[in-house]
Amino acid sequence: MPKEVVAIIGAGLMGHGLAAVFANGGHEVTITDPFPEVLASAKGRIAEALDAAGWPQAALARVTPHAALRDAVAGADIVIEAAPEKLPLKQGIFAELEAHARPDALLCSNTSVIPIGQIAARVASKHRVLGTHWYNPPHLVPLVEVIQTGGADPANICRMIALLKGLGKVAVHVKKDVPGFVGNRMQHALWREAIALVDAGVCDAETVNLVAKNSFGRRLAVLGPLESADLVGTDLTLDIQNYVLPHLDRSTEPAQTLKSLVADGKLGFKTNQGFSRWTEDQKAALRAKVTEHLKLLNRILPG
Ligand SMILES: NC(=O)c1ccc[n+]([C@@H]2O[C@H](COP(=O)([O-])OP(=O)(O)OC[C@H]3O[C@@H](n4cnc5c(N)ncnc54)[C@H](O)[C@@H]3O)[C@@H](O)[C@H]2O)c1
Repeated sequence: MPKEVVAIIGAGLMGHGLAAVFANGGHEVTITDPFPEVLASAKGRIAEALDAAGWPQAALARVTPHAALRDAVAGADIVIEAAPEKLPLKQGIFAELEAHARPDALLCSNTSVIPIGQIAARVASKHRVLGTHWYNPPHLVPLVEVIQTGGADPANICRMIALLKGLGKVAVHVKKDVPGFVGNRMQHALWREAIALVDAGVCDAETVNLVAKNSFGRRLAVLGPLESADLVGTDLTLDIQNYVLPHLDRSTEPAQTLKSLVADGKLGFKTNQGFSRWTEDQKAALRAKVTEHLKLLNRILPG
């Protein structure tokens, strides 16, 4: 696998993890962020990510922070944007990338849900634009969705998938640039129903979490939804769907409960209150549990 120079735009939660993955894979990494304090802490956080993944710290020497985006992208073969999920901001960044990156550099976005074509609206060289949607934390979750846009050169999709596989990732080809791609469409269909059940008084938030974690959630890492349908039988699946689908939530906007939580400043871990209340100890314990669980799965179920 050729060694690439990878520029990461945005050194936040996702950006520092992406830097750790590429640097551990032997690639040179540049990273930029407009906030000096964020950039200053990037290498320390990348070191922690390497540590969490059980990777050698030597990779840190391959990471170079740059204050200016144009310096970070100047020599890059691949650029991955991991800036906030705001369309105008991402569109502006992509216009800058086209102006300052080499003409043959791939321009990728790590957006969670926004179609890549919209993000690249102001980019002329659309053949080199694609989506690479990673999951948090990127150094511990195997999947990356590689999203094909209207004008993308299929060779660039193949190049990206090969690069990601070389890093040990499970890279999948998303053939249409739809909002939410594959993973977040499924995930948010589940979250919409979870909130609707609480709103309808069927159960409380704790029960939603207990049911998901102790039922289908137990199987999901080894049994995908359509494997599950095959396992129980497509005939039973049809009978169940005929009965239950009309009863599932079909709202096309977020539930009022969710809007009210946000309006009241109940932002979850950030403010210690969301659907549930959180103490500092509970937050630390849950974060540690997720990390240990992901590491265990990576040991016993390599992608
Ligand atoms: N957090 C997740 O679980 C997750 C998972 C998959 C994808 N994503 C997506 O990844 C992207 C980044 O998310 P995050 O969670 O890392 O957010 P974050 O807020 O932790 O990090 C974003 C970083 O971008 C920086 N930034 C702000 N303006 C910028 C600009 N003009 N140019 C460059 N950098 C700028 C911020 O200072 C910040 O450090 C978003 O599009 C998000 O939807 C997030």
